[in-house]
Amino acid sequence: MSLKGKNILLGISGGIAAYKMPMVVRLLKKQEANVKVVMTEAAKRFVSELSLATVSEEPIYTDIFPARLDTAADWTQHISLGEWADALVIAPATANTIARLAAGLADDLLTSSFITLRPNRPRLVFPAMDGEMFHSASVQRNLRQLEEDGCKVIAPESGFLASGQCGTGRMPDPERIEEIIEEELGDIGKSLLTGRQVVVTAGPTREKIDGVRFISNYSSGKMGFALACAAARRGAEVVLVSGPVALPTPDRVERIDVESAEEMEEAVTRFHQSCDLFIGAAAVADYRPETFRAGKIKKNNETMDIRLVRNPDILAGFAAQKTPGQLAVGFALETEGNEAYALEKLQAKQLDMIAFNTYDGKSSGFEVDTNQITLFTADGTRTELPVMEKKEAAKRMLDALEKMLEKK
Ligand SMILES: Cc1cc2nc3c(=O)[nH]c(=O)nc-3n(C[C@H](O)[C@H](O)[C@H](O)COP(=O)(O)O)c2cc1C
Repeated sequence: MSLKGKNILLGISGGIAAYKMPMVVRLLKKQEANVKVVMTEAAKRFVSELSLATVSEEPIYTDIFPARLDTAADWTQHISLGEWADALVIAPATANTIARLAAGLADDLLTSSFITLRPNRPRLVFPAMDGEMFHSASVQRNLRQLEEDGCKVIAPESGFLASGQCGTGRMPDPERIEEIIEEELGDIGKSLLTGRQVVVTAGPTREKIDGVRFISNYSSGKMGFALACAAARRGAEVVLVSGPVALPTPDRVERIDVESAEEMEEAVTRFHQSCDLFIGAAAVADYRPETFRAGKIKKNNETMDIRLVRNPDILAGFAAQKTPGQLAVGFALETEGNEAYALEKLQAKQLDMIAFNTYDGKSSGFEVDTNQITLFTADGTRTELPVMEKKEAAKRMLDALEKMLEKK
C-alpha cells in the first residue's frame, strides 16, 4: 500500500504536539503524496509556517480572506481545499478545534475545509491534549459527535504529556501517524472495489415466536462487519444489512438494521440491480415460526409445539437473478470439516465464491475474533487460509474477489 499521488490535506491546530507535524509532512512526501497544510492562527504559535512550507513545498493556508485584493488569487479557498483533498487529517486536534468541528463552525480555513471535504473522503482526527482535558465531558461528547458524523477519531496514547503529567492525550509519533494514515487511506483508488457497490449481510436474524420471544443463533456479526469495513477502506460504496448485533458501524458504511430474515430479504432486494458484489455473511435463520402470537404466550401446558416454515434464501435469491458482471459470495459454516457441503452449496446456489469455515467455539466460527476459512471459487480454485483475525481474513477474501473482478 502506498500514498503515492494522494492529495492529503493536513489540518494543524494549536496544541503543543504541532511540533511533530513537519516530520509527518516529510514522511508523507517521501511516499510521494501531495500534501497541503492548513493551520489555525493558534497553531502558528507552536510550529513555524516556514518549516511546514519548506517540507510540503507548498504555501501554508490559514486565511479564509485573501491578504491582498490586487493580485490574482483563489478567492474561494474555503471550498477548493476541501474539493482538492482525497483525505483530511487533523493533527493535532485541540479541544477547541474539536468543539468547532463538532458544532459545524466554519470560522477559519481548517474548519471550512472540513465541512467542504467531498463526501466519502476520510477525515482522520488526532485529539492531543492534557489527560484531564481529554477525559472532560465536553471533549468526549464532541468526539462522539465527530464519530457519528463519519470521522475516524484516533485515540491518543498514554504517556508523558507536555503538561509534565502522565496520562492519556499524547499524539502518536510521526512514524505511527504515517502508518495510521496509510492504513486508512492506502487502499482507496488502487483497488478494483473503489467506486463499486458492495452489499454485505451480517449477524443473526431473529424470528419472532410471540411479542417477547424469538428464535435466533449465536452469530456476532464480526465477520460481516470486518468485510464491510475492509471494502469501505478500498473505496467501495458499502451497504451493510445487519441483524441485531452489538457492533459499531464501520466508517463510511451505510448500515441498515433489520430483525427477521424477511426484513433482511426486503432490504437486500433493493440493491439487487445496483450492486457489484453481494456477500452473504449473515447467519440467516433457516426457519421461522409459522404464526406469530401477539403478547406473551402463557405457560399453561406441559409442552408446546411451534411449527416452523422455511425462510427465504436471501443469497440464492440474489444469485439466481444476477447479471454476468455481478458476484455472489456466501459462507458455509459447519461444525465438522465437511468441505463437500460447501462445494454443493457453491453449485446449488450458483455462487462465485464460498467461504467454508468450521465452528469449533474457540478460534473459528461464531462470536470469536478469529476465523479459519477455506475459499472455493466457481472456477474450481481452493485456497485454505490459516487461523487469523477476522479483519485479516476479510482482506484476504477481498483480495481473492478482486482477482475475480479483474477477469470479469
Ligand atoms: C503552551 C500551550 C500548550 C497547549 N497545548 C494544547 C494541547 O495540547 N491541546 C489543546 O487542546 N490545547 C492546547 N492549548 C490551548 C490551545 O492553544 C487553545 O485552546 C487555542 O485556542 C486553540 O486554538 P485552535 O483550536 O484554533 O488551534 C495549549 C496552549 C498553550 C499556551
